Amino acid sequence: MTAPTTDRARGAAPTGPVVLTIDDVSVDYLVDEPVHAVRNVSLELARGEVLGLAGESGCGKSTLAYAVTRLLKPPALVTGGRIEFHSREGYAVDLTAIRGEDLRQFRWDKVAMVFQGAMNSLNPVINVQAQLEDVFSTHRPEMKKAERRRRAGELLERVGVDRARLKAFPHELSGGMRQRVMIAMALALEPQVLIMDEPTTALDVVVQREILDEITRLRDELGFAVVFITHDLPLLLEISDRIAVMKEGRIVELADARTLYTRPQHEYTRTLLSSFPSLTGERGAFVRTGVDTTVPGPAAGRSTEEPDQGPDHDPDEHEEADA
Ligand SMILES: Nc1ncnc2c1ncn2[C@@H]1O[C@H](COP(=O)(O)OP(=O)(O)OP(=O)(O)O)[C@@H](O)[C@H]1O
Ligand SMILES: [Mg+2]
Repeated sequence: MTAPTTDRARGAAPTGPVVLTIDDVSVDYLVDEPVHAVRNVSLELARGEVLGLAGESGCGKSTLAYAVTRLLKPPALVTGGRIEFHSREGYAVDLTAIRGEDLRQFRWDKVAMVFQGAMNSLNPVINVQAQLEDVFSTHRPEMKKAERRRRAGELLERVGVDRARLKAFPHELSGGMRQRVMIAMALALEPQVLIMDEPTTALDVVVQREILDEITRLRDELGFAVVFITHDLPLLLEISDRIAVMKEGRIVELADARTLYTRPQHEYTRTLLSSFPSLTGERGAFVRTGVDTTVPGPAAGRSTEEPDQGPDHDPDEHEEADA
């Protein structure tokens, strides 16, 4: 199945097989004055790609992520649309329809999420080893204790934390390390899609950089696709294959990172780009491999390329996170 052509611009289609299809999804918060948080969003995520999701605070990024992982709770209500996961093994799952045990097995196993502010959500009274092992006891009940133990150590090293820290409690770790532990937990079951909601926002730039490199390396090694959510557009330009720009619940622009940077189509994207001084000079911080950083950015106010084209342009189950 392919997504409808709404909200699509040239260069916006995913390259390669699709792992996730979000088709015309809308989410409301049914409060006194209902909030239309996500409005008719359609997106496709290609296997192994990094899709950036940018947009100002309150535009609906987290709500969309929660809809995909089926973690929305009242007063949120999915008012329409369909979300489909296309497994590497060749079958498709309608995420809007699965329930109960199927949903529980699916989540974390196929699509995992690192939550906004996640590094503060580790259980403070349980050490890292027990928290990592817990993912396996819950989702791989057949796994023997020794195997769980071995895997917990491997996971920690995979995200660049010494195995010796297995015995540490969350308060004994730096923010960066805690965030790495959260990423390790999300990767424990080798998901095919990893949704990361502001995974590095609270960290200083050096640690942020290290973690981003780690995510990129792991993506190359394990082949999962990433939806990377942040309002930090310069960062997204650097790490994303494609970027979706969200405003007031809608995707207003979707393009590959380079096109979005050099030829933004939507006024809002231009505003967003120009609000980052690092992007506006000739020596912008846009250093994505293979991209010529001397290409004039949006603040240069001109394009030597082709002229611009406007962008062609059931109640949910309220499940809790269980990992
Ligand atoms: N539980 C809730 N009840 C009512 N409205 C909500 C609730 N959660 C979110 N909203 C509203 O839904 C809209 C989208 O919120 P959401 O958290 O998805 O935005 P966001 O893009 O993730 O923002 P941020 O960058 O600050 O994380 C906002 O207007 C927000 O106020
Ligand atoms: Mg958010």
